[in-house]
Amino acid sequence: MKFLIINGPNLNLLGKREPDIYGSLSYERLCALIEGHALAHGSTACCFQSNHEGAIIDAIHAADGVYDAIVINPGAYTHYSYAILDALKAVDVPAYEVHLSHIDQREPFRAVSVTAPACVGQIYGHGHQGYLMAMDYFLEGGR
Ligand code: DQA
Repeated sequence: MKFLIINGPNLNLLGKREPDIYGSLSYERLCALIEGHALAHGSTACCFQSNHEGAIIDAIHAADGVYDAIVINPGAYTHYSYAILDALKAVDVPAYEVHLSHIDQREPFRAVSVTAPACVGQIYGHGHQGYLMAMDYFLEGGR
């Protein structure tokens, strides 16, 4: 399978950013882990990160017909980006939403995901393992 992994704003600062909430793994190490997981399953993963909504939307559009699945952590855009919701709905690539933290046990605004309805599933609170679990969903035949 060909995976596109999309990480939204501030996730480039993983490891440094609020490590008590998001963990101590850096963004670079997260990508290495994801790429290794894909390779171990005869697949590939391309990691993309942007702090800009439009760039994330462009990446989703460009995934159509190129990638088999998207694993996306939209960061704070999760809670208000109807544009990312629409982009995910507009393409024929299934997406799985991932959050490192327990978004349901934090500030009330984080419990709401406007992007999840365009995804086949959502996982949160499992730290970096959540990305691998989302990939496993597709590797095991989920669509
Ligand atoms: C996050 C949760 C969001 O509320 C936050 O804005 C993030 C990271 C997570 O992975 O837990 O940037 O998506």
